[in-house]
Amino acid sequence: MADITLISGSTLGGAEYVAEHLAEKLEDAGFSTETLHGPLLEDLPIDGIWLLITSTHGAGDLPDNLLPLYEELKEQQPNLANVRFGAIGIGSREYDTFCGAVEKVETELKSCGAQQIGETLKINILDHDIPEDPAELWLAEWKNLLKND
Ligand SMILES: Cc1cc2nc3c(=O)[nH]c(=O)nc-3n(C[C@H](O)[C@H](O)[C@H](O)COP(=O)(O)O)c2cc1C
Repeated sequence: MADITLISGSTLGGAEYVAEHLAEKLEDAGFSTETLHGPLLEDLPIDGIWLLITSTHGAGDLPDNLLPLYEELKEQQPNLANVRFGAIGIGSREYDTFCGAVEKVETELKSCGAQQIGETLKINILDHDIPEDPAELWLAEWKNLLKND
């Protein structure tokens, strides 16, 4: 099993690129990683560390490829007491529902018993043409929290 499982939710590909970039950085730092774009529950290890990266679409909605996992979490309420996770949202402040998707998934993960590490990063693409940049800065801090935990 990889040290860290990256989970991306994306419609236009941006969040996928961020996930792949962060996986590379984690590998450089000595972690093994697995990156899954829009996985189902059965694709995920139910212990270990997850890093969720999702954009928001519609009006605060999840990207289509992450919706099935979200619905599984809601309906099945799997026991995720052995999962720790970090979360990054990508969205635009133009919308009232800024980064609504990451908030929804985060709430569901916690209700299944997963423990969040660090604070959720919400990237406003109006401020960051290249979302990889703020994500990489956040990752540097997050990696340290993993060591301390
Ligand atoms: C039709 C549409 C609806 C969107 N709705 C929201 C929203 O409700 N909240 C938000 O924060 N961003 C919203 N966004 C902004 C996207 O999250 C942003 O463009 C993001 O970079 C897309 O990432 P992706 O390439 O991974 O899909 C919306 C974008 C589009 C095109």
